[in-house]
Amino acid sequence: MTEYSRVTEVIHIDRQRPEPSAIAKAADCLRRGGLVAFPTETVYGLGAHAHDRDAVRRLFAAKQRPSNDPLIVHVASVDEIRTLTTHVPPAAVALAERFWPGPLTLVLRRAASVPLEVTAGMETVAVRVPAHPVAHALLAAARMPIAAPSANLFSRPSPTRASHVLADLDGRIDMVLDAGPVDIGVESTVVDLTTVPPTVLRPGAIGIELLRDILPDVQLRTRAVASSDSPLPSPGLLSQHYAPRTPMTLYPSTPSAGPESFITHVREVLATGKRVGVLATTEEAIALRNLPVVVAELGSAAEADTVAARLYAALRELDAAGVDVILAHDFSTDLGLWRALRDRLRRASVRP
Ligand code: TXA
Ligand code: MG
Repeated sequence: MTEYSRVTEVIHIDRQRPEPSAIAKAADCLRRGGLVAFPTETVYGLGAHAHDRDAVRRLFAAKQRPSNDPLIVHVASVDEIRTLTTHVPPAAVALAERFWPGPLTLVLRRAASVPLEVTAGMETVAVRVPAHPVAHALLAAARMPIAAPSANLFSRPSPTRASHVLADLDGRIDMVLDAGPVDIGVESTVVDLTTVPPTVLRPGAIGIELLRDILPDVQLRTRAVASSDSPLPSPGLLSQHYAPRTPMTLYPSTPSAGPESFITHVREVLATGKRVGVLATTEEAIALRNLPVVVAELGSAAEADTVAARLYAALRELDAAGVDVILAHDFSTDLGLWRALRDRLRRASVRP
C-alpha cells in the first residue's frame, strides 16, 4: 500500500445496527494494512492493525504524529487484553468489570507481541474496550487488536463527527465509517496501573471520583510535559494539544464575579480592533448577544455532558470563522467530567 491513498472512502453506517457488509469491508481494509477511521463513544479513532508495523508507521505519518506518542490498542473484549500484556493485575479486572466496554484506557505491561511502534518504544501498552456499537462490530469482525489514536492531525482538536475527520485527513487515509456524532465528545480517561499508586495520566470521560470507588489510592498526574522531545512518562500530556489554529486565551474562572468579568475582558479585546470568537456557555452567550463577536455556544454551564459533546466542534467552528483570537472562560469545578473539560481548555489555549 502506498503512503497515502488518493481517495478516502466515506461509508455511512447505522450506529445501532451497523450493516455487516460495511463492517466487513472496513475490517478487510484493516487486515490488509489500511487506515480506517471509525466512531467510538468518546471521539472518532483512526484504526490500524496493531500487529502490522508498516500499517502503524503509516498511521503516524497520516496524522503527522511524532513517533514518541504511543497509541491505544482497542480490543473487542476484556479477554483479549491477555494477549497484549504480560500481567493483568487484579485492579485491571475490577476496573474492566465496572467500566468496560467504555471510555477507560488502562496502561499495563507490554507483551512482546505488541510492536514497539505502537507503544513508542515503551514497555507498557495502553488498552481499551470501546462501547460504541460500530467500534464493537468492527473489532469483532476484524478479529484482531486495532491501534487507534483520535482521528485528527496531531495537536488538533479530536474529531467528534466524520466531517472533522475528513477536514484533517481526507486523502491521507483509506476509509471513514460515518455513524454521525459521537456520544461523549472528550477522550477516554487514561489510568496507568504500572505505577504505585496508580496514576491518572489523562483526565477523561470517567471522573476520578468514580475511579476511586475501585482504586481508592489513584493519584492525578499533575506535572505537564512541556515538549515533544522529552522522555516519555506520558507523551500525550504535551501542554499544547487539542488546539485550534487560532490563538486562544483562557480567562480564569471567578466564582464570585459570574459572567460579567469575562464579558469585560471580551469588550477590552474588541476595543483593540481584533475579530473575536468566543467559546461561551449558554449563560455567557446571552450576556454577549449585543456584542460584535462570533459565538460558539457550548450549552449550559450546569450540564457537563452537553458541553463535552460540543467542545471540539465549537473550537473547529471558531477556527473556520476566521477570527483573530478565541476567548474562553474557564469552568469553576473539577467534579466528574469537568476536570477533563478544563484540562482540554487549558491545552487548547496559549500560555501567557
Ligand atoms: O477516547 C480515546 O481514548 C480515543 C478513542 C479513539 O479511543 N483515543 C485517543 O487516542 O484519544 P490518542 O492517541 O489521541 O491519545 C492516547 C493517549 C495519549 O495521551 C498517549 O500518550 C497515551 O494515551 N498513551 C498511550 N499509550 C500509553 C502508554 N503506554 N503509556 C502512557 N500513556 C500512553
Ligand atoms: Mg489524540
